[in-house]
Amino acid sequence: MATLKVRKLKSFPTEISVPGDKSISHRAAMFAGMADGRTVISGFLPSEDCLCTVKAMQAMGAEVEPLEELEGVGLVKLAITGHGPKLKAPAGPIDCGNSGTTIRLLSGIVAGQDFSVEMGGDASLSKRPMKRVADPLRLMGAKVEGQGEKICAPLKVTGGSLQPITYTLPMASAQVKSAVLLAGLFAPGKTTVIEPVATRNHTERIMSHFGVKWLREGDAISVYGGQTPRATDITVPGDISSAAFWMVAAAASPGHQITLKNVGLNPTRTGVINVLLRMGAQITSSETHSEGEPLGHVIVRGGDLNATVIGGAEIPNVIDELPILAIAGALARGSTLIKDARELRVKETDRIAAVAENLRRMGVTVTEFDDGMEITGGAKLTGATITTYHDHRIAMAFAIAGLFAEGETVIEGSECINTSYPSFAQDLALFQSATQGDSPIPVLARVPRPFTGKF
Ligand code: S3P
Repeated sequence: MATLKVRKLKSFPTEISVPGDKSISHRAAMFAGMADGRTVISGFLPSEDCLCTVKAMQAMGAEVEPLEELEGVGLVKLAITGHGPKLKAPAGPIDCGNSGTTIRLLSGIVAGQDFSVEMGGDASLSKRPMKRVADPLRLMGAKVEGQGEKICAPLKVTGGSLQPITYTLPMASAQVKSAVLLAGLFAPGKTTVIEPVATRNHTERIMSHFGVKWLREGDAISVYGGQTPRATDITVPGDISSAAFWMVAAAASPGHQITLKNVGLNPTRTGVINVLLRMGAQITSSETHSEGEPLGHVIVRGGDLNATVIGGAEIPNVIDELPILAIAGALARGSTLIKDARELRVKETDRIAAVAENLRRMGVTVTEFDDGMEITGGAKLTGATITTYHDHRIAMAFAIAGLFAEGETVIEGSECINTSYPSFAQDLALFQSATQGDSPIPVLARVPRPFTGKF
């Protein structure tokens, strides 16, 4: 088990370029693997989660060419050659690692094939509910077998001749929406997903990028089956969920300023900026480029933060940022309330329990509710030993808390960070060195080079 030791912040970098967006990297690999030719993916996130997706598409017949790696980050550019949406049966089970996005979206793709695939993953993934994708995929005609009432992994999905459905999401989940839309590509006619609360729309945007026609009527999103994605090169923007850690570090540091470069600014993901603005943070963003997905630089200037209430329809937009926003709440004046966020209980771990427990270890008063928590801000944080429960966002959120704590914070089981942000420790080190101050940081000197490693 790896540990990451964090001390109070000593220096402040002026710029950080976060790695590629996890949700978009998964989808880029999937659509490239179902397309009719060669797609070059730049800005890819070479995290364990996304590499599971690439390997899965490779196991089902797509050709993968590693093109470029970034020192300390990994494979950031690759080409995937697909042979259309009808894939090849894999030789064995598919390992989805820790990745809910891989197993749930692939279930949608496999539902449209004429073979069976077994999909498994680590202990954390094996506890997560897959019934939410099994239900609509069974309605469409696929056979989905899993463990217990929650239909947990290992899952066996047997594709069938699918029927289109109209499906109202019982929970706000982009993964379920995407699984149904992907299966819809294999059903004759119009498959519709109704989402009562908007969730991230990367699947819809990437369908447009790959020339797949879909339509939105109110809160209904529909696709027509029988379309072949057209291979089209794609650049993945930086992940706003990864940038969020540095946003909070900067927002709570009076006198400091950081520029986060080339961050994805899709409005279904920028809720974290809105919440921090509401807490009194000074944040500006400038959209520099918009080709399929908007992106730009985000500048955060430190100051004093005030408590806020986070809930309702904004929850899906900040779902992955709630652990780090809870840390922002602990650093703010007043009590911050997070509500309507029951979904946090079924993430990589129960994030309500994990955040509450670890914040208490650092000296913060937290009241836990079924659907959220109230955090009493303004206490002096003390360094503590943090249990991550194999959850990357718990590990990173508490590493940021450690920057504001007296003494040492020890993140136990920090290897889970590799599932979404393999270069996190390197970027964190920019806040720990006594000598760097506000000078330009070495991370900018990372140079791309031809891929030499083993894929
Ligand atoms: C994701 C959707 C969200 C999010 C996850 C990635 C996606 O999950 O928490 O990290 O890429 O579609 P849900 O759709 O289950 O809320």
